[in-house]
Amino acid sequence: MLTSGRYKGQPVPAHMKHRDRITPALFGRWLTLWANTTDELMAPDAAAALQAKAARIAESLKLAMFFRLDDQPAPKPSPRPARPTATAMDNA
Ligand code: HEM
Repeated sequence: MLTSGRYKGQPVPAHMKHRDRITPALFGRWLTLWANTTDELMAPDAAAALQAKAARIAESLKLAMFFRLDDQPAPKPSPRPARPTATAMDNA
């Protein structure tokens, strides 16, 4: 949070270890608990900053843990170019 560089951990592998038990829905619960706790313990502006930071980290952790390109639907074929339509100029 303070960008002091003291934290040397690796959050993605730390959470990956528990991927069979952590579900995307649990992130919402985590963030709610975090919001309640920071609201209770911190001044409002500090609580808001901590909550915003946690929400960004939660989003990137969730992407790292659950997003798979091969889960995406196949792209739709591109639409045919529209046929030219008759205009008043065609008969001019
Ligand atoms: C569903 C939500 C989450 C669950 C269930 C969860 C669970 C855990 C667990 C079990 C560990 C210990 C991992 C281990 O060493 O075996 C851990 C570590 C940690 N978590 Fe989470 N976590 C969640 C979300 C988050 C979020 C949103 C953040 C950050 C805002 C976060 C930050 C961390 C950090 C910094 C560690 C220490 C990693 C290290 O060893 O350096 N977690 N978490």
